[in-house]
Amino acid sequence: MSRIGDLDVPRLGLGTMALTGRGTWGDPADPAAARALLRRAAELGVRLFDTADSYGPETAERLVREALHPYDGLLVATKGGFRRHGPHEWEADCRAESLRAACEGSLRRLGLERIDLYQLHLVDPRVPVEESLGALVELQREGKIRHIGVCNVDEGQLERANVVAPIVSVQNRYSLVQQGSRSVLDRCERDGVAFIAWAPLGKGFLAAPSGALASVAERHGATPAQVSLAWVLRSPAVFAIPGTVSSTHLEENLGARGLELMDEDVAELASEGFPAYRARRFARMARARAGRVKARLRR
Ligand SMILES: NC(=O)c1ccc[n+]([C@@H]2O[C@H](COP(=O)([O-])OP(=O)(O)OC[C@H]3O[C@@H](n4cnc5c(N)ncnc54)[C@H](OP(=O)(O)O)[C@@H]3O)[C@@H](O)[C@H]2O)c1
Repeated sequence: MSRIGDLDVPRLGLGTMALTGRGTWGDPADPAAARALLRRAAELGVRLFDTADSYGPETAERLVREALHPYDGLLVATKGGFRRHGPHEWEADCRAESLRAACEGSLRRLGLERIDLYQLHLVDPRVPVEESLGALVELQREGKIRHIGVCNVDEGQLERANVVAPIVSVQNRYSLVQQGSRSVLDRCERDGVAFIAWAPLGKGFLAAPSGALASVAERHGATPAQVSLAWVLRSPAVFAIPGTVSSTHLEENLGARGLELMDEDVAELASEGFPAYRARRFARMARARAGRVKARLRR
């Protein structure tokens, strides 16, 4: 158990982004299975469910309500700040009036009078973070939001956010293969702010056996996914929200709750360069760059 604001929840939660169609768009292939997965997670002791109005859009929040309302003892964390136009298409919109409408939509869809944790999904490069958070503070004063969190921030943005709003959580990408937010995590540890690690399994890469991950897992009689989750959970500030559509994977991931890594495990994992991940990421970035060049040439 650990705290997000004044709420005590176990630190291993569930992300709901994948409970949609391809490209985080529309309904999942089997909505009944998605609802069953959410209920199974609650049965197995998951208390933190991370969602967003933009997942679907609206689909994931609707499924969360259908499966889990009235959320007895559960913390449903949602977010606002993106508009969606199609699969894989995300447009930032963190203007004050847009966030107000987004939050009111989430309240309706989730069947809540107050959202326990409302997170600004990103800092919109066209809108000062003070304007976006100012809107959330107003909603908090009106009793529609209990706690405010931010996502995808660097230290400077977190500092600016804290001036405007009492920030209780930061949700950034963090895993064995994505450690760019280490300094933000250090700050959260120091200030007693919850750090919610998204993509803690490196989008699935860290659930497959390779190198040091495989040997540490074998030593503990655990799986690579469990070791990867135990690794992010070493910091007491961290909450992890692995995503899955599989109840077998859900149960496996929750097996990380009892796993404690030793110093030698951590050292071995630190020495691993994850070359396959880097190569895959490099190829993806090159493809995206080529796509952008083609789009420019077409214009
Ligand atoms: N704030 C933000 O900007 C932001 C951005 C992205 C995501 N998020 C949040 O973070 C959550 C998690 O992130 P994510 O889903 O992108 O990445 P992730 O949790 O690192 O990885 C999910 C992937 O891992 C696979 N997986 C999970 N458990 C597994 C296991 N035990 N064995 C094998 N494969 C396994 C899943 O496939 P299966 O479905 O087949 O298990 C899925 O492909 C999201 O649901 C969302 O709530 C937030």
